[in-house]
Amino acid sequence: MSEQAQTATNDAESTSEKLVELAKRRGYFFQSSGAYGGVGGFYTFGPQGASLKGNVEDAWRDRFAVAEGNMEIDAPTIMPEPVFEASGHLDGFDDMLVECDECGESHRADHVVEDNTEYEDAESLPIPEVEEVIAEHQLVCPSCGAGLAGQAVETFNLMFATNIGPGDSDPGYLRPETAQGIFVEFPRLKEYARNQLPFGVTQIGRAYRNEISPRRSIIRTREFTQAELEYFVDPETDEPDLESVADVDVTLYPASEQNKDDGDEIRTTIGDAVEEGVISSPWVAYFLGVAKPWYDAVGVDMDRFRFRQHLSGERAHYAADCWDAESEIDGNWIEMAGFAYRSDYDLSKHAEHSGDRFTVFKQYDEPKTVERATVDPDMSYLGPEFGGDAQAVVEELEDLAARDRAAFDGDVVEIELEDDTHDIPVEKTGFAVEEQTEAGEHITPHVVEPSFGVDRLVYTVLHHAYREDEVDGEERTYLELDPEVAPTFVGVFPLQNDDELEAEAQEIVADLRAEGLSVTYDDSGNIGRRYRRQDEVGTPFCVTVDYETIEDKETTVTVRERDTTDQTRLPVDDLVEALAEIREGDLEFEEL
Ligand code: GLY
Repeated sequence: MSEQAQTATNDAESTSEKLVELAKRRGYFFQSSGAYGGVGGFYTFGPQGASLKGNVEDAWRDRFAVAEGNMEIDAPTIMPEPVFEASGHLDGFDDMLVECDECGESHRADHVVEDNTEYEDAESLPIPEVEEVIAEHQLVCPSCGAGLAGQAVETFNLMFATNIGPGDSDPGYLRPETAQGIFVEFPRLKEYARNQLPFGVTQIGRAYRNEISPRRSIIRTREFTQAELEYFVDPETDEPDLESVADVDVTLYPASEQNKDDGDEIRTTIGDAVEEGVISSPWVAYFLGVAKPWYDAVGVDMDRFRFRQHLSGERAHYAADCWDAESEIDGNWIEMAGFAYRSDYDLSKHAEHSGDRFTVFKQYDEPKTVERATVDPDMSYLGPEFGGDAQAVVEELEDLAARDRAAFDGDVVEIELEDDTHDIPVEKTGFAVEEQTEAGEHITPHVVEPSFGVDRLVYTVLHHAYREDEVDGEERTYLELDPEVAPTFVGVFPLQNDDELEAEAQEIVADLRAEGLSVTYDDSGNIGRRYRRQDEVGTPFCVTVDYETIEDKETTVTVRERDTTDQTRLPVDDLVEALAEIREGDLEFEEL
């Protein structure tokens, strides 16, 4: 029954261009504020795109929050300056900018280098070296072609700045990652986790980066959606359930291979990669093992998917190690997610800057008796001797006792105070070593972070689903979207404009919607055109109500499958249940 003649392969060179055009025409995504000329790096998801994106987010939530037993929060997108002073974003979240003297356009200097030389990772080069490469290769402005040699390369902070309230006394920033909204709330979140490590907190939300040159449609935008999990662990004792992902096959591209002239990707399993030390953190390995089948389930082509380790110069300021999930798009690899081992960097920084407690109390199995060095200084001596600095001297003595009790072995102890050295008689310090019984200790958890870019994933899913073939002698474009994420699950059509057919079709629409299926009703244009429209938006099934439906004793409809264009007739009474089972993955179309 197939109307399909042949399946053509994608034309890899132009799939992105065709996809962007389809996305605009069919309501997936388009540049925002078009009425005002559009603005670079901002995109609106249309009705199909918003639905696809929502389905991808739901699938992520199911896997990384619900199935893993993690919490979800929803924090503000604007945060005050001290948060980003602590996180390091104010000082270190920069890109390299080079401005063209001729046309005034700004460009990312590392991209200019990478696009026009053999350098693959110019981001990790120091600025003077980037300036040298630009001069040596006589690189030119991508906009106007004027030479860029001699132009200064400068750092440009990517955060969008704003003011909180009137005036400028309270600066704030649009968050560059959702993660900070989780870290700053740690003192409260740990209470919800009953102070028990490990625990995870997820957040799906917008983040903002004032990219110098946003590009490639929704792949690099200035406002985008992240789905992030911050997983807090005790680095000494907590271990992931590696057994559950040990057999997951993965393609890895470790830094060691990238650094070789003839380096290559490695095909292995998560279990072997950990055993052989290719992935050093078992926690990172665990989340790679969870992510790969998930990417497969939402429609990323596993032949165009790999995990690539960051080179040392490429890692973000907070990351001790990081692996990206990458997808292949028209011959280029793009980052879809980062799996970073952030150690205790973020929690320690927020503790230092805020003075709040970003630790968890870890109870020992048995109380421990430990020796503690303490001081109890004689203030009748320190007061007259140091005046207003006496308290600072006490704190110095406490610190010194905790870190170097041998300093108290002689008759005097030497302390530093504002670059001056002072000798204090040990007998005036009240130094003593005491035995104390302790039930536990306060530890700063380490953080493992799977961080997903939702927009880039949506782009990949669409790109990997893009197909062209020929049906009944006509070219057809369709999106082979997985039913789990397809914006519309079924299209329902009356064959012709006829009251009776339309009434029957509307009744079917109502029944399918009551079952929770996403349905579109279409009665405009010839039936072939309606099929093509649904094919182009990736609707997996179409149901057509024709004269046989209303004339036959047993009321039946035609059900058509998108990819094969195969059709079958089904009693209307069985339709809802059958489609619901297919949606749940319990039934195949061929079994109908
Ligand atoms: N939270 C990681 C990132 O935004 O890149």
